[in-house]
Amino acid sequence: MSWIKEGELNLLEKISANILKAGPMPKHVAFIMDGNRRFARRKNMERQEGHMQGFNKLAESSLVFQTLRWCKHLNIQEVTVYAFSIENFKRTKDEVDGLMELAKQKFERLLDERENLEKHGVCIRVLGDLNLLPLDLQQLIAKAVLATRAHNKCFLNVCFAYTSRYEMTNAVREMAWGVEQGLIQASDVSEALLSECLYSNNSPNPDLLIRTSGEVRLSDFLLWQTSHTCLVFQSVLWPEYSFWNLCEAILQYQVNHKSIQSARDIHRAHEALQQLEADRASACSTEYLQRHGNGKPADALRRQEMLSHYAAQRQERVRHFLEALAHKRDSFFTDLCSGVAA
Ligand code: FPP
Ligand code: MG
Repeated sequence: MSWIKEGELNLLEKISANILKAGPMPKHVAFIMDGNRRFARRKNMERQEGHMQGFNKLAESSLVFQTLRWCKHLNIQEVTVYAFSIENFKRTKDEVDGLMELAKQKFERLLDERENLEKHGVCIRVLGDLNLLPLDLQQLIAKAVLATRAHNKCFLNVCFAYTSRYEMTNAVREMAWGVEQGLIQASDVSEALLSECLYSNNSPNPDLLIRTSGEVRLSDFLLWQTSHTCLVFQSVLWPEYSFWNLCEAILQYQVNHKSIQSARDIHRAHEALQQLEADRASACSTEYLQRHGNGKPADALRRQEMLSHYAAQRQERVRHFLEALAHKRDSFFTDLCSGVAA
């Protein structure tokens, strides 16, 4: 099955979508697509067929965004899916090989559909440690990511060889690298900087996270990004997920929207205050104030000017560091791609 399923909603679906859209809509939805194997068992299918149908459901429900089926009508611009956890490597060799093969086929297919993806402005990102994957799959993913990186109408983030703890540990390592390279100072480390070092740095946090199959845990998925996200657990198995299940989840989001929004606002204000205090503390402890105040005690106004100057210098360091990090990540993809036969 193709990555993009063309088609329209039926009349009842269209009316429902319009009613939903009168309320606040999530812009970014994350899915833990769970229940493929149970679905296969229930239908007396091979396990691999369950995963295949799981992919079909993904193509049907997420790569539709603005322009195609469900999400087109729901104005959801960004979807993040948990396609393969690092924990999934512990499954049988047979199943892991099957999932790698499925991914290979689907990314090959995606490359064949390049024009269609361009037409719909679909940008595909893959979040995870690609080094853990077979080289041919790494190369295909790199090609797909580079081929769609300039598209900006809708975004599909595929978490593959991913867990949240791994992602956070990697982000901490990136910051340690920045300090080692002299690009940033240890005191520049902050919540905001860590967020920028995550695989998800190009995305806003999800507004809504949906897990199917009745399991009520996050299984190491987007733990950092979902502290102020509406979590919805639904009993339906992923391959059976329907437009109505998505509407039900969005309704839950709408019911909780106010409290989520105010929690987010409080967090943002708290984060800004934290940064101000961190700047003040590190400016003092690095004797910045004394040096720039010629050793004399500075009056309040001068102190404020010096702190602003310190904050501007920190922002500049951080900007350079993030550019270097982006360059490192880009090179990883382009090097992989240059290893692919044209
Ligand atoms: C969870 O169901 C599903 C997975 C571990 C794999 C999900 C993968 C896809 C839907 C294909 C995505 C592919 C690409 C290329 C994006 P499960 O296996 O845990 O089933 P169970 O909970 O019933 O045991
Ligand atoms: Mg499962």
